[in-house]
Amino acid sequence: MQIVQDKNELNELHKSWRHHGEHVALVPTMGNLHPGHISLVELAREHAERVVVTIFVNPTQFGKGEDFEDYPRTLERDTRQLRKIGTDVLFMPDVETVYPFGIENATVVSVPGLTENFCGASRPGHFDGVTSVVARLFALVQPDVAVFGQKDYQQQLVIRHMTADLNLPIRIITAPTIRESDGLARSSRNQYLTAEERAVAPRLHELLETIGSELQNGKRDFQELESQAVATLEAAGFEPDYVAVRRAQNLEVPDRDCDEIVVLAAGQLGKARLIDNVVVTI
Ligand code: PAF
Repeated sequence: MQIVQDKNELNELHKSWRHHGEHVALVPTMGNLHPGHISLVELAREHAERVVVTIFVNPTQFGKGEDFEDYPRTLERDTRQLRKIGTDVLFMPDVETVYPFGIENATVVSVPGLTENFCGASRPGHFDGVTSVVARLFALVQPDVAVFGQKDYQQQLVIRHMTADLNLPIRIITAPTIRESDGLARSSRNQYLTAEERAVAPRLHELLETIGSELQNGKRDFQELESQAVATLEAAGFEPDYVAVRRAQNLEVPDRDCDEIVVLAAGQLGKARLIDNVVVTI
């Protein structure tokens, strides 16, 4: 595995891969890799001869008072894991490479509509930061394929929208959520949980599964499902942010004929903001 910080070096590698007719898959990450990330890299490998993983803790997607400074940085361990699974390049650009005109003067890529609710409402500016950095990583790496996790359901929809709207010739692949044995979705932020909170955390996924089953059993009062779920999360010790039953394709409110539904939820548990979702066909 080559560790690259310089964009010109990455360009040279890219040229030689292209020369040999090889395709490139990108897995953008902020590091602190866990089995969820590893599964993204393994899936990327199925779609291209060359896999580039980026580690860049992107300042523009963190709001004031969020955990940018504290975000776990575990480069040595990350590097070891990526080597083991046969990553071709670990690209670790610095802020000046990603934002050459400085963050204050950076072009912002912003997707309207899809970003207004849910995590977009609770974390103002977050998705502008995500789309701006992902567009920049796309420009730097020039992949044929890019892989994102389903855990960040709204994020992957927003990135799909951006990619299609800008006519970027990149195929977006969404990888299934990797879970602990008790159902908790793998996330870098799980490590903020105390032992007590960790015992409660799987309730989020359990609740989503229950709502999924109720939908499959014919329940169609979406609002009631949402408000009951918020109360259940509160009773379990979460500060719920939202629970929403939506059309899987575009996060709009489903009508009774909609057959693909996503149930999304987010809540604060101690210092950790947990998010999760399930997709059900009804
Ligand atoms: O999902 C993440 O880890 C980040 O939002 C991403 C896509 C790497 C952009 O910084």
